[in-house]
Amino acid sequence: MDNPFGLLAELTYRCPLACPYCSNPINLAGYADELDTDEWRRVLVEARDLGVLQCHLSGGEPLLRRDLVEIVAQAHDLGLYTNLVTSAVGFSRPRAAHLRAAGLDHVQVSIQADEPALSDAIAGTPSYDRKIEAMRVVKELGWPLTVNVVLHRRNIDRVAEVLALAEQVGADRVELANTQYYGWASRNRAALLPSRAQLDAAEVVVRAARTRLRDRMDVSYVMPDYYSRYPKPCMGGWAARQLTVTPNGDVLPCPAAQSLPLPRASVRADSLARIWADAPVMTAFRGTDWMPEPCRSCDRRELDFGGCRCQAFQLTGDAARTDPVCHLSPDHGLVARAVEAANAGAAIDDAPLVPRPHR
Ligand code: SF4
Ligand code: FES
Repeated sequence: MDNPFGLLAELTYRCPLACPYCSNPINLAGYADELDTDEWRRVLVEARDLGVLQCHLSGGEPLLRRDLVEIVAQAHDLGLYTNLVTSAVGFSRPRAAHLRAAGLDHVQVSIQADEPALSDAIAGTPSYDRKIEAMRVVKELGWPLTVNVVLHRRNIDRVAEVLALAEQVGADRVELANTQYYGWASRNRAALLPSRAQLDAAEVVVRAARTRLRDRMDVSYVMPDYYSRYPKPCMGGWAARQLTVTPNGDVLPCPAAQSLPLPRASVRADSLARIWADAPVMTAFRGTDWMPEPCRSCDRRELDFGGCRCQAFQLTGDAARTDPVCHLSPDHGLVARAVEAANAGAAIDDAPLVPRPHR
């Protein structure tokens, strides 16, 4: 067992946006009893003692936490690299200045599209102008800026314009993240999954942009795993290098694991070190002993770890099965049928999207 390298601190699931691709849990109300400032301080100390080097402050919208500056200051004082993952709603100049003084290292701002009307429609609230202004502030205050755009059927055709926007705001990195179908996104999968033709077109644009921008902006783009032959090595392996702490203090190997039928482990009841080492939620799929065939005898098992446990559970009802994305999985038909439907024509282009509630 290695030590975790990264902590995803999900400070709150409250959010002013209502994106239909949100990976937050369906049961948002179950996370209302949020850890207080002192509890987060303790989590950060325990994370540092466990070997964590990077702390991603996320949500929901972490700016809704009034104590965000104190939490950042604590992480910074402990020597952690801090990354704020934000919609930027609430990222005012004075707030930004306080976060800068507290030692925040990096800011990742999400935007839903390059066009104001489309971005606001996907976000479910007028937010485009504030995001652009926030990106300007990030650069002015001297932070490295990552622009994150979740791609799906409704915006992937505009990937060239999205890249132009990222260039225009001076992003150091743009993350074109194809939707992962967890939480709310899984409810909207049929309306969000792009077609093969859309993906092929986007890939041509991304390849050209990577060459053109190679000295100025890092362009990160990952194909949606539904279209891959092999699954993604999710989280670098279950409870191998990353851990997540949810707003109410549950500790998980990844944010989507809250949906799995595993016993809860909470920082309110135990130390992070004991949970990391021994809690069933961490040990259930660590390593390769749990693997069924075809993974057990596959020579890729140490490369992709059998894929994503949360996706296996969501699609088959059994987290211990091979990720159905893998073409060798006996359940691959579940993914193949979704892909077929996405390629069947334009009938789903206007399918209604279920917005995530603000809570
Ligand atoms: Fe990976 Fe399992 Fe598929 Fe082999 S069978 S490629 S280990 S998911
Ligand atoms: Fe949980 Fe992949 S998201 S293991």
